[in-house]
Amino acid sequence: MSEYIGALDQGTTSTRFMVFDRTGRIVSVAQKEHEQIYPQPGWVEHDPLEIWRRTLEVIDEAVEARGLRAKDLACIGITNQRETTVVWNRLTGAPVYNALVWQDTRVADYVARLAQDGGQNRFQAKTGLPLTTYFSGLKICWILDNVKGARELAEKGDLLFGNIDAYLLWNLTGGINGGVHVTDVTNASRTQLMNLETLNWDDEILGIFKIPRSMLPAIRSSSEHYGDMKRTSLAGVPIAGILGDQHAALVGQTCFKSGEAKNTYGTGCFMLLNTGEKRVISKNGLLTTLAYKFGDQPAIYALEGSIAITGALVQWVRDNLRMIDKSEEIETLAQTVKDNGGVYFVPAFSGLYAPYWKDTARGVITGLTRFANRGHIARAVIEATAFQTREVVEAMEADSGISLEQLRTDGGMVQNEMLMQFQADILNRTVVRPQMRETTALGAAYAAGLACGYYKDTADLISNWAVDRVWKPQIEDADRDRQYKQWKKAVTRSFDWID
Ligand code: G3P
Repeated sequence: MSEYIGALDQGTTSTRFMVFDRTGRIVSVAQKEHEQIYPQPGWVEHDPLEIWRRTLEVIDEAVEARGLRAKDLACIGITNQRETTVVWNRLTGAPVYNALVWQDTRVADYVARLAQDGGQNRFQAKTGLPLTTYFSGLKICWILDNVKGARELAEKGDLLFGNIDAYLLWNLTGGINGGVHVTDVTNASRTQLMNLETLNWDDEILGIFKIPRSMLPAIRSSSEHYGDMKRTSLAGVPIAGILGDQHAALVGQTCFKSGEAKNTYGTGCFMLLNTGEKRVISKNGLLTTLAYKFGDQPAIYALEGSIAITGALVQWVRDNLRMIDKSEEIETLAQTVKDNGGVYFVPAFSGLYAPYWKDTARGVITGLTRFANRGHIARAVIEATAFQTREVVEAMEADSGISLEQLRTDGGMVQNEMLMQFQADILNRTVVRPQMRETTALGAAYAAGLACGYYKDTADLISNWAVDRVWKPQIEDADRDRQYKQWKKAVTRSFDWID
């Protein structure tokens, strides 16, 4: 058996390839960013060809950096930004339009029109999801309705749809020369086109959305052999795991028991609670989603609280306001003041996701006085992530009846210790950071490793998990309650901004 496993992690802002050893330690890594394209307010696009080029580059770079060869890798897993939608021509491989990114709100009119007949939750029982701009199904509709000639080509069977996982898998396994057109249950569960019970595309919804079935990839488990790499220095290596990035982080954190949860702090924040084989339909603004499905074993479900903008707010302060040069500096700037000075920042840049699902909300900064300075804004930016997470935790406890004792965290933002402490304070719960924070890539590698026999079972994976640091709540109840009440008030100020 080869010594290592690999994972391709295609995220919202960058693409990485990582090589791990059996204990989950990183052996090699390469990462490249890609352009964020904002054609108008609320629209967010990526160039799929740029993402494909970055993919080839990071794989080759990570492999060459350690002098690795194809025989050194037992298999590879793919994990990806979810919902982001690519439609391409199966005969030429060319995308018909840029990828519509998950944060893109251009389908708000479609949402409003469909919700008139049956309300925002009309597809919730089947798909676990409310009608909103977030998911892939309506993004496919937009492309078919707005790109010249796309609908005719799709009806002829010449166009393929994929989230980034399926687009990259198709290309990595040969593209126009026999590329495999497959996705996994976790990614499919984010399209609003898959029935959660049958784990198949739902004909009624496809009819309502007018999406030809021939465009859609076959839905498979998250851990099985899909095909072999045909491109890059790793030609011949099996691709054996696919998980949407948040589901991959759940697996990387080894949350395999019902009741175990993790919160990943990246561009947005995504908290997933494993609910076992049971599908819990939310009454409190959460999503029902697939957690994972390993080969022939039963599908495992999760409740998810999705927050669109957390780390992205820090990037916005860096890139659009130029208040800091590097993301890490937000913490130093926030440390220049002793509290938020009454300032609250609700980053409803793509509307509000969980638990509100309000497409017409937009960002607000409240509580400004002449006293407020850059430090207070920085503090409000950090606190926004923790307040939004508390709203999601409350919804999760209400839906599941489980009281979370502690919160397992991961993702790029968890190096911000001020955030971790404030998270514990505002939640009134212990916050735990594991030693391994790259849980997304690791989860995809684990899924692949289970399929190709590199790991025997999930017990092998659990033994790799270890605590790095723990934060306990340190503020008084009255202070916590006061701050949370102010936050809630600020949130209402963001509602109904778009007519
Ligand atoms: O649902 C969107 C999510 O998958 C994006 O994750 O880490 O790429 O921002 P990330």
